[in-house]
Amino acid sequence: MDRYGESEHPARVFNAPGRVNLIGEHLDYNGGYVLPAALEFGTTLIIRRRDDDQISFTSTNMDDTRTISINGEALNRTDQWTDYPIGVISELNKLGYRLSCGYDLLYQGDIPNGAGLSSSASLEVVTAFALLSMEGKETDTVEIAKLSQKAENLFIGVNSGIMDQFAVANGKADHAILLMCDTLEYELVPFQTGAYQIVIANTNKRRGLVDSKYNERRSECDRALEILQQEIPALTYLAQLNPEQFASLQDTIQDETVRRRAKHVVEENQRVLDSVKSLRAGDLEAFGQYMTQSHNSLRYLYEVTGDELDALVEEAQRIPGTLGSRMTGAGFGGCTVSLVHQDSVERFIAEVGENYEARTGLKSDFYVCGVGHGVHEVKGGK
Ligand code: GLA
Repeated sequence: MDRYGESEHPARVFNAPGRVNLIGEHLDYNGGYVLPAALEFGTTLIIRRRDDDQISFTSTNMDDTRTISINGEALNRTDQWTDYPIGVISELNKLGYRLSCGYDLLYQGDIPNGAGLSSSASLEVVTAFALLSMEGKETDTVEIAKLSQKAENLFIGVNSGIMDQFAVANGKADHAILLMCDTLEYELVPFQTGAYQIVIANTNKRRGLVDSKYNERRSECDRALEILQQEIPALTYLAQLNPEQFASLQDTIQDETVRRRAKHVVEENQRVLDSVKSLRAGDLEAFGQYMTQSHNSLRYLYEVTGDELDALVEEAQRIPGTLGSRMTGAGFGGCTVSLVHQDSVERFIAEVGENYEARTGLKSDFYVCGVGHGVHEVKGGK
């Protein structure tokens, strides 16, 4: 609070987590199932009302700050971190929510930036939730996810699906979220891993081409869909096909690359459902195998992994006690997620880290992490 000085208005504290996707990659924009979980680290926002009409944004992690007025000026992008919360305000305005006063917003982020653990979704969702709470408005977390995705798509200009914002808004401790991305119906699936832990490994690869490659994959899927619609006009998303239907139709897709992309989508969707069955049956070994199959499909069919992610997964698989390992998020860098026996975690971090560095020249970071809560107010927060 040093940066803001004293105020008679009480501050409230909110937190939104990062997310890891356990399985179901590149399925959200294809209308399929995903299985993300909220992390135990995230973005904390301390917010306090002001007596004027200014909204100020400050972060303990970043130097740049910004102040805007609630009254009407067109909100513009400045390519700073403040674009994320301002994008949210722009979407709130479009929905007809006018803020009734100014606010001071102070953020602290614990999610490594650019690691594919949804630091931006976390920033968006915590802003929307906090502002609606301060205004005494309803905080429907599904609506908050939707408006935060719009902020990302329209204000930031990144064409991502709904998964990240949805997981950050709706996660629950010790549960994974089985989300049907077409209808946004979801179920919380108990994620009880007993003696096994989630270990996230960061490639620390510079992000580079992620956005352009991501858009390329989206348009390849659109092409596959158009072709398949000639056979099944009612098809609106690739993930509506089951693997048998796809097998009987795949020859209509002449372009071999496009066919492989579609095959990944259809098979990965089935894998999510199968993996949830194994989770519910308490069969973590089977769940781990589905994770590894998912990585292989992303590597060979969808081609979004790259040397760094493949190296981390291969090295993870060498460690006894690893049940499964895969890339998580968009790919081309970012992180892997592995399910590792607690007695092997130390060895995992040491050996995977060392071998990864020997193979790629990059140092990795590891986060051993449980499943945390979706966005919430931190009661008793200062
Ligand atoms: C990124 C996007 C998500 C999703 C994943 C791939 O994280 O933001 O919407 O498409 O990639 O599963």
